[in-house]
Amino acid sequence: MTAQIIDGKAFAAGLRERVGKVAADFEAKAGRKAGLAVVLVGEDPASQVYVRNKGKQTIACGMESFEHKLAADTSEADLLAVVEKLNADPAVDGILVQLPLPSHMNEQKVIAAINPDKDVDGFHVVNVGRLSTGLPGFVPCTPLGCVMLLKDQLGSLSGLDAVVVGRSNIVGKPMAQLLIAESCTVTVAHSRTQDLPEVVRRADIVVAAVGRPEMIKGEWIKPGATVIDVGINRVAGAEEGKTRLVGDVDFGSASEVAGAITPVPGGVGPMTIAVLLRNTIVAAHRNAG
Ligand code: GUN
Repeated sequence: MTAQIIDGKAFAAGLRERVGKVAADFEAKAGRKAGLAVVLVGEDPASQVYVRNKGKQTIACGMESFEHKLAADTSEADLLAVVEKLNADPAVDGILVQLPLPSHMNEQKVIAAINPDKDVDGFHVVNVGRLSTGLPGFVPCTPLGCVMLLKDQLGSLSGLDAVVVGRSNIVGKPMAQLLIAESCTVTVAHSRTQDLPEVVRRADIVVAAVGRPEMIKGEWIKPGATVIDVGINRVAGAEEGKTRLVGDVDFGSASEVAGAITPVPGGVGPMTIAVLLRNTIVAAHRNAG
């Protein structure tokens, strides 16, 4: 069997188009554009690329982008002061502090300073609590994007066995909560899991978010399962000096067994910013209304 490829790039483009329409509607009603503020501390190249892409796509969706770039040696107190200013600014509907922060800063303290109703990343403990209790709030963008792709592919997820590989606060844990909310039977596996292949073999849905290149093999996958690969790993390419991107799933072998699978790149990756823009327009409507 050869798996169907789940086209996250196309789904994300459609989502951005729908967000653009809601953003135009918001502007007509509110007399201002919805606004997303992104704070970047330091010069991590990957973070710089993310932030640039976020800014471009925010503007392309008809929203205002506010970028705050701070030096790597900025004090935590100065960063907290920027966050406070953004909390109080009525033109700012969503606030995102790009992670990771430099090591002299306490990430949890900085996230806790963001107004939960502007926390479009869904990282604030109030939003984590809202997600786990089923209250409306903001849900982390990558796992929410994964659920959108799964529901588009499968329709109802009710009763399916789902295995999430990885237990991070950003992906694994919120992913598990979202799948529970969709009435899946959820297992969270991680680096200490005994007999990971056997655990993965039970799953109708596999979500891989471990950050280990091509770790999950085709022989581990139940025939016909839906595989969502959150991994983005840069590895050496076939040619000398060249690199290529691979996921946490061994795409070659997994695509022979799975029913459907997200590719890397072009699967989950493009969903993150599209969902961020979706969360921002939701924040704008909630906070204005
Ligand atoms: N760094 C990598 N991904 C993310 C994300 O989704 N949000 C934030 N704030 N930082 C990130």
